[in-house]
Amino acid sequence: MGMLKKAPEKLWWGGTAPQDFYPDDQDIRAAGNLTELADVFGSDKGTLGNAHNYARLYERLINPSETKALCEIGVACGASLKMWSAFLPAARIVGVDIREECKNLCKDNKNIEIKIGDVKDLNYSNKFDVVIDDASHVSEDIVDIFNRCWKWVRPGGLYIIEDVGCTYSDDYTEHFNSLFGTNKVNNRHVFVELVDSIMKNVDVKIDIESMEYHPQLLILRKRKANANAAVSQQSKFLNWLSSWRP
Ligand SMILES: C[S@@+](CC[C@H](N)C(=O)[O-])C[C@H]1O[C@@H](n2cnc3c(N)ncnc32)[C@H](O)[C@@H]1O
Repeated sequence: MGMLKKAPEKLWWGGTAPQDFYPDDQDIRAAGNLTELADVFGSDKGTLGNAHNYARLYERLINPSETKALCEIGVACGASLKMWSAFLPAARIVGVDIREECKNLCKDNKNIEIKIGDVKDLNYSNKFDVVIDDASHVSEDIVDIFNRCWKWVRPGGLYIIEDVGCTYSDDYTEHFNSLFGTNKVNNRHVFVELVDSIMKNVDVKIDIESMEYHPQLLILRKRKANANAAVSQQSKFLNWLSSWRP
């Protein structure tokens, strides 16, 4: 067996225009799992660059035979979209990016669709088995995008927020703002408030089944539609509990 040929490291976050990279077919075929696919296509969800190693976890959580549509917010060079396209050949893969230059990427992949614009201008509902926020990683945006895109996830599906560590870094925020000419706020408390509000407002966010923290990741699962009966029992109990006084 030959050695796995990893993609060259990308400069996608350094201000260069996004570029397409296509490995040879034989290199794609040589990849035996999602981490190796990430490495072959040049996404840092495997062992390249920041070596996030998310792919190892995603492979356990995302079942190709049950996944019909996946949306990733943040396309850059399209590396992760191509990784998803290879892992989920029967699924529809939608990428969203604010940068106009991303629109011509991934043309060889028939199941990839790229939308250009701010996610807040797009309207989907219950369309995706998985939605991944790999956009700015600035807490203000994470909260806005969650509020906008949670409804894009089908019941039983996953909403994944990547690179949560960036919300701790002033250097990162400065770099981001200078690159995009923005003045975004990256206060940790904004992000923590999102988690607080999900925890507190059980009746408002009743469709959240679970929240899991993993290193650098927050993963939310949407409650299945057929769990509604149990949920309404639970809300009755919570109402009773909140009105109960000894
Ligand atoms: C980390 S890169 C995406 C990397 C890609 N998912 C991968 O793994 O190969 C982040 C991208 O998000 C885009 N972005 C930032 N804010 C956005 C927003 N509000 N809506 C859409 N795209 C955004 C940036 O233009 C950038 O290309």
